[in-house]
Amino acid sequence: MSTHGKPRRRQTVPKIRARKGKKPLTMVTAYTYAQARIADEGGVDMILVGDSLANVCLGHETTLPVTVEQMVYHTAAVRRGTERALVIGDMPFLSYNVDVHESVRNAGRFLKEAGADAVKLEGGAEVEDAVRAIVRAGIPVMGHVGLTPQTVSKLGGYRVQGRSAVAARHVADSAAALEEAGAFAVVLECVPSDVAREISERLTIPTIGIGAGPGTDGQVLVFHDLLGLLRGGHTPRFVKAYADLGGQAVEALQAFVSEVRAGVFPGEEHSFAMSEGEDRKLPGVLSEPLRGAVADGLVPPTPDE
Ligand code: KIV
Repeated sequence: MSTHGKPRRRQTVPKIRARKGKKPLTMVTAYTYAQARIADEGGVDMILVGDSLANVCLGHETTLPVTVEQMVYHTAAVRRGTERALVIGDMPFLSYNVDVHESVRNAGRFLKEAGADAVKLEGGAEVEDAVRAIVRAGIPVMGHVGLTPQTVSKLGGYRVQGRSAVAARHVADSAAALEEAGAFAVVLECVPSDVAREISERLTIPTIGIGAGPGTDGQVLVFHDLLGLLRGGHTPRFVKAYADLGGQAVEALQAFVSEVRAGVFPGEEHSFAMSEGEDRKLPGVLSEPLRGAVADGLVPPTPDE
């Protein structure tokens, strides 16, 4: 794929890191081959195969039920649809919090089996050891602090984190712990803009915000939110829908239904013709009983296409 005729070069972890404080980074989630192709052609720097898969693709209330197997499967599809963006696989709940060795093995699956460039995981100091071990194994890690949906129960709901100075300090310490452990970037989710800006200024790795205001090194949105694909339900304040593809899709399907009912679709341009002269023979061939016609040698057994 290319923009304006120029071949676009693949993103790498060092290139992303080097963008700290420079041109803002862009990231979007994707879960399928087709979505990845759209995101990649759209020019985003990074595609996150988020565990939001559980919500937007599988209809779960939380991200907790999604498995490593499902995440690896979808990451592989996204990799196949991506030519340029950095592909990051999201490690699901309990795949990196139980045992450090198991964390490394699970993280490795995203690179080995799905072709991801990096993994993402949630948490601060409590996941420091896992981050260090995964990075030591040669797997780049993106952190995620602030509102961490995998611990929504502990947080008491999907709420902004770091509204008080003490809570803000906790978010900042979590981000710093990830940087120290070797993460190459960190997502800041649902933190006040001032807090996100201060944290971004203090870290040497890029911060990617979602509901964290304009002061981060980059922004991320969920594919379905950005494109207006989900119908109904609550839209968080931080979401900007750049299109109403859900609405357009419903209109397209309504047009299909009415055209089929009215006999407008399929037209001649969507249909196939018989071979030259064969149409004249058809009534004669069909005048014989259909069942057993092939066995009686009246109809050749090989289909045309
Ligand atoms: O899973 C996800 O979509 C995420 C983004 C919101 C950062 O973690």
